[in-house]
Amino acid sequence: MNTAAVLTGLGTYVPPRVVTNEELSRTMDTSDEWIRTRTGIAQRHWADTGTATSDLAVEAGARALKSAGSADVDLVVLATTTPDHPCPATAPQVASRLGLRTVAAYDVAAVCSGFVYALACAAGAIAAGVAERVLVIGAETYSTILNPDDRTTSVIFGDGAGAVVLRAGDPSEPGALLAHDLGSDGSLKDLIMVPGGGSRQPVTGAAEPGPRPADSYFGMQGKPVFRHAVTRMAESSQAVLDRAGWAAQSVDWFVGHQANVRILHAVADQLGMDKERTVVNLDRVGNTSAASIPLALADAVSDGLLAPGHRVLLSAFGGGVTWGSTALVWPDITTDRDISPKTPRSS
Ligand code: ACO
Repeated sequence: MNTAAVLTGLGTYVPPRVVTNEELSRTMDTSDEWIRTRTGIAQRHWADTGTATSDLAVEAGARALKSAGSADVDLVVLATTTPDHPCPATAPQVASRLGLRTVAAYDVAAVCSGFVYALACAAGAIAAGVAERVLVIGAETYSTILNPDDRTTSVIFGDGAGAVVLRAGDPSEPGALLAHDLGSDGSLKDLIMVPGGGSRQPVTGAAEPGPRPADSYFGMQGKPVFRHAVTRMAESSQAVLDRAGWAAQSVDWFVGHQANVRILHAVADQLGMDKERTVVNLDRVGNTSAASIPLALADAVSDGLLAPGHRVLLSAFGGGVTWGSTALVWPDITTDRDISPKTPRSS
């Protein structure tokens, strides 16, 4: 029988600063009503100036290792769109700060699909015998790439980190990742992009002090992204359900990338699933890109929704464009509030 990757620990972290829709509407031409009705978001967490993605990743990683009951891992895979630096990768620094010494560590860049991609990378490493136990982290500080003058993106994204520990095990065990589906379409790369800072458009040495170059900010064409997200997440989810041998109606929780509640419900609709089976925590944290799925899992556990034995379907869509899905039966793991604290709601 093949070796499976089995989920054995979960931990999350969000920076303490809560930014409400009301606060944003004081500095830009938007409103709580528009943001809530068009996205479902009520608040997000933004890191203080000087906080980097690795800082959030270390917090979530430490909680996941504690949840797993062991800091013994031999690989760290970190999914992020907002690495500490363009070079080197952020994962080795996170591994080192977690006291993991010289373990293998690398970043995955698949934007909002990054966590699902990282799970598949980790599962592949376990199946190939490259690693026995893997720490998979999704961590983002989108607040560092948002254009404060762009209301179409600034109201959507939040900062945070979530992590799981995967160990080698048997496919029949609860927690085993049962099936994966990954895809991309690079012809749509312009839909979600930070144009500057890479080899196509290197940093040009903006005057210091001076305004930040416009091409260093994140940009997104919301409407087509919405359409592609629904289609690709539904197709990818169905592919994973077929591989796992599950009927859509037998899934207890659909944990989709938390971009927009309307996207999550449209995907559930296309799959023929009851919308009530959709986990939603974007009202509290916004779109946290690669961190969104582990944050949603942790909130679903602490809200008393997700319990051992439940069938869980994960699915994401993001820049690239990329998409991916995974299925698992939820394991009996320790995720108490100390380890994965419930993020506060706005009052
Ligand atoms: N406040 C008030 N009005 C706004 C705001 C705002 N924050 N943003 C846009 N509007 C206005 C627009 O200017 C437009 O006005 P107009 O009709 O006068 O031109 C109107 O609201 C409608 O704008 P749309 O862009 O058509 O709004 P839409 O309903 O499509 O919602 C949104 C925009 C929320 C971005 C939606 O398209 C969406 O969720 N897209 C998908 C995002 C996603 O899935 N991302 C996942 C991947 S992200 C990643 O990988 C990093």
